[in-house]
Amino acid sequence: MPNVAVIGAQWGDEGKGKVVDWLASRADVVVRFQGGHNAGHTLVVGNQTYKLSLLPSGLVRGKLGVIGNGVVIDPVALLAEMDRVRAQGLDVTPDNLRIAENAILILPVHGALDRAREAARGDRKIGTTGRGIGPAYEDKVARRAIRVCDLAEPDVLSDKLDELLLHHNTLLTGLGAQPAQKQELLDLLLGLAPRLLPHVEAVWERLDEARRAGRRILFEGAQAVMLDVDHGTYPFVTSSNTIAATAAAGSGIGPAVIGFVLGIAKAYSTRVGAGPFPTELHDETGRQLGTRGHEFGTVTGRPRRCGWFDAALVRQAVKVGGIQGLALTKLDVLDGMAELKIGVGYEINGKRLNHLPAGQAAQAAAKPIYETIEGWAGSTRGARSWAALPAQAIKYVRRVEELVETPVTLLSTSPERDDTILMRDPFES
Ligand code: IMP
Repeated sequence: MPNVAVIGAQWGDEGKGKVVDWLASRADVVVRFQGGHNAGHTLVVGNQTYKLSLLPSGLVRGKLGVIGNGVVIDPVALLAEMDRVRAQGLDVTPDNLRIAENAILILPVHGALDRAREAARGDRKIGTTGRGIGPAYEDKVARRAIRVCDLAEPDVLSDKLDELLLHHNTLLTGLGAQPAQKQELLDLLLGLAPRLLPHVEAVWERLDEARRAGRRILFEGAQAVMLDVDHGTYPFVTSSNTIAATAAAGSGIGPAVIGFVLGIAKAYSTRVGAGPFPTELHDETGRQLGTRGHEFGTVTGRPRRCGWFDAALVRQAVKVGGIQGLALTKLDVLDGMAELKIGVGYEINGKRLNHLPAGQAAQAAAKPIYETIEGWAGSTRGARSWAALPAQAIKYVRRVEELVETPVTLLSTSPERDDTILMRDPFES
């Protein structure tokens, strides 16, 4: 099976962009299957820097990009992103971007509700990206969402907007926000339709053809396992399933088509937004990790919370996420630190646990149990072979492998695409 799925193994921002870009250059088709424009990564190709949120990264490598049905699409944001990359010289056409006809649309009311609810939560807020992701997925399961295909059926669209607004305007008014005007929304959507519809099709059929023709398909996950709506640190999660299994449901292929599952993890931990983070550091070491790792959110610019690598958490992510190999990123950020710690389990109310349980109070009470490892004096930055790594850095990676019970198949040693040590090609696995 020549296909690969890439997912985050922590709380997002693990450096998926670089790894996905490298894999995309070797794939034929790149598919987004969940999330929306809450995701974001930066790709540097030649002298151009592309900031992508919704567009599958393969596009910048000249590959076919597919937005699957599991994605929630803000049409205004998508068209703006398409215009932005076009202005940088990248041609986005119906030939290289296909959009699932059954994907869900994010409307301005979703963003308004997301932000109004966060404001109402006060200091108990989740720290969402405010982009309407949660409310759009809620509408999907409540069966009142507007889907991409509705743009081609104005009468259906008009009726569906009545139902949707009955719900949303009641909520928005209750939260003290402005209600939405139906005609305004209808005009907006019908105005955008001619630009979107040429890209729209039954993508499951195209993916099936690609699979049968032996094309290499890369499934590009967004967010990460610990933000998964079932398996993450609920309720401080995103509103989709982020595990590899979602690649099947979110694009319309069978589970056997997913192929090799590559998880991405940083050599330490970060998190944006609120929620439990047992190995978080509030001291100088935490600040040092943030500064050296340039830890600011791509989408929101918020500073990321930083802490030690949590092997117990990543082991859990490996198991529920279906991860078969790990890409370890940003090892160079640990260069020169005298002593490193790795979380190996938790103490929760006097009991030791080797995994993070589901209970919210238990997660908040989890104190990390650490193993201490000697650091290394030399540099790992830019290393392209094991031989170029300090012996102690190799020891760190080997210990990570043991603790997470998964081989590190790829090591990334700088933001540059070629500063990578490849142990096993995921497409050949
Ligand atoms: P939402 O996805 O905007 O609803 O946000 C829910 C949680 O997921 C918040 O803690 C966000 O910070 C987090 N989140 C969403 N997308 C990303 C991402 O791409 N990287 C890291 N965190 C994210």
